[in-house]
Amino acid sequence: MTVREILKMGDTRLLRVAQSVTDFDSDALHLLITDMLDTMLAANGAGLAAPQIGVDLKLVIFGSNARNPRYPDRPLVPQTVLINPVIMPLSDLQEMDWEGCLSVPGLRGEVPRWSNIRYTGFDQYGDPIDRTADGFHARVVQHECDHLIGTLYPMRMRDFTKFGYTEVLFPGTAADQDD
Ligand code: NI
Repeated sequence: MTVREILKMGDTRLLRVAQSVTDFDSDALHLLITDMLDTMLAANGAGLAAPQIGVDLKLVIFGSNARNPRYPDRPLVPQTVLINPVIMPLSDLQEMDWEGCLSVPGLRGEVPRWSNIRYTGFDQYGDPIDRTADGFHARVVQHECDHLIGTLYPMRMRDFTKFGYTEVLFPGTAADQDD
């Protein structure tokens, strides 16, 4: 149980294309996931990708089985460990919404994402995951999986007038909730 340091934008380790996980259900993998969960919880994040703690593997975690009391209206995304993920858009529809990132602290930007996706991959035991998702769930998955190809959300933005400091854009809201 260790809260790990989260790398910030500018660190070139965030720009790598991550390596596939080949060993499932190993002590090292379980320990890494425990550290990632502790780190995500400590930072009040909606998700975390292994490259954000400097680990060059295709592994993301996201979601929560408990509703955040600060965001009671935010849809519940099941707590998920997703390894070697593949995302397929299910239509051409995209939608814009605000995102933050633990590697880009204090800022928010409006980012286009696929509205409806199918995503596949494996959990930490090597069991397959195959889901469809839309809305916030689809957005979180796309955001986290982008970290596995060296892409941070500002690199997806189209309108930089919709980019700024959380406390300026959304006065009075908690500034420490990031994806
Ligand atoms: Ni992020």
